[in-house]
Amino acid sequence: MSEHFDAGWLSLREPADHAARSTALADALDAWARQVRATPQTPLRVFDLGAGRGSGLRWLAPRLPEPQHWTLVDHDAELLEAACRGAGGEYVRERRVEDFAAGPPPLPDPPPGEPLVVTGSALLDLVSADWLDRLVAACAERGAAVLFALSYDGRIEASPADHGDAALRAAVNRHQLTDKGFGPALGPRAGEYLARRLEDHGYAVEMADAVWDLDASRAGLASALMDGWVAAASAIEPGRAAAFREWGERRRAHIDRGEGRLRVGHRDVLGLPQKFSVEVNRPTRRSVAS
Ligand SMILES: C[S@@+](CC[C@H](N)C(=O)[O-])C[C@H]1O[C@@H](n2cnc3c(N)ncnc32)[C@H](O)[C@@H]1O
Repeated sequence: MSEHFDAGWLSLREPADHAARSTALADALDAWARQVRATPQTPLRVFDLGAGRGSGLRWLAPRLPEPQHWTLVDHDAELLEAACRGAGGEYVRERRVEDFAAGPPPLPDPPPGEPLVVTGSALLDLVSADWLDRLVAACAERGAAVLFALSYDGRIEASPADHGDAALRAAVNRHQLTDKGFGPALGPRAGEYLARRLEDHGYAVEMADAVWDLDASRAGLASALMDGWVAAASAIEPGRAAAFREWGERRRAHIDRGEGRLRVGHRDVLGLPQKFSVEVNRPTRRSVAS
């Protein structure tokens, strides 16, 4: 059963997503596109998988050279409609309402000289290893650059510390591995797995941390996130549902008092076809707690 995402949730997370994403990887992608396109007038083709309501488009399009032709693909027609109505909608040449649970959708074959970027955000932790293997093979066949942002990596840290934190995190991370419509999900392994598969196909790969740092100014997102975690943890360990619920209540009290802070780890991964070498302003790996 494919996952549907609430437009309100996607709007709530967008500012935190934009603040967390790696600009160093976008800069490297920008340099690649400028170098490989046939002429400065040649359009850059961007294929956005699981585009939702266009958060990735709004973040990435201003960081890449113009002209750009975006294709947005998602199984949710209403989200795509919102993406095309919003900022950045002028870049969208095609929207495809498609359920790609059975396999990655067919990628475009741009004419020679037109660079292709295959991108997505907050998607890969939902997919299976087999699904991602097929996507990477299709990207490699076309010499496409690959940028997948915001794959959750299993790190959740909350302050002040609570005795229920470790059990909650472990249950959430087990739930992450359950089928989200694509077969057993990669969950927190997704970013590392993508990086390895791209290297196997000869890509030059860079990975960066993309950490949500949620303090009192992002209380709405923190609160919605905790509700989701309590539900996921309770689904995977029903016997501990009451303990997880109490954990959520204690955390919410911290947030209501303006004391609580949540840090959530994600990975951004960029793969550039190997023959291109670019200086990435190398991001340092840092702990969620740093
Ligand atoms: C967490 S949301 C991320 C949306 C957007 N990329 C962003 O960063 O806000 C995951 C997206 O994947 C889409 N999705 C999930 N399963 C899908 C499937 N089987 N086929 C097509 N799209 C799917 C959802 O509709 C949703 O828009």
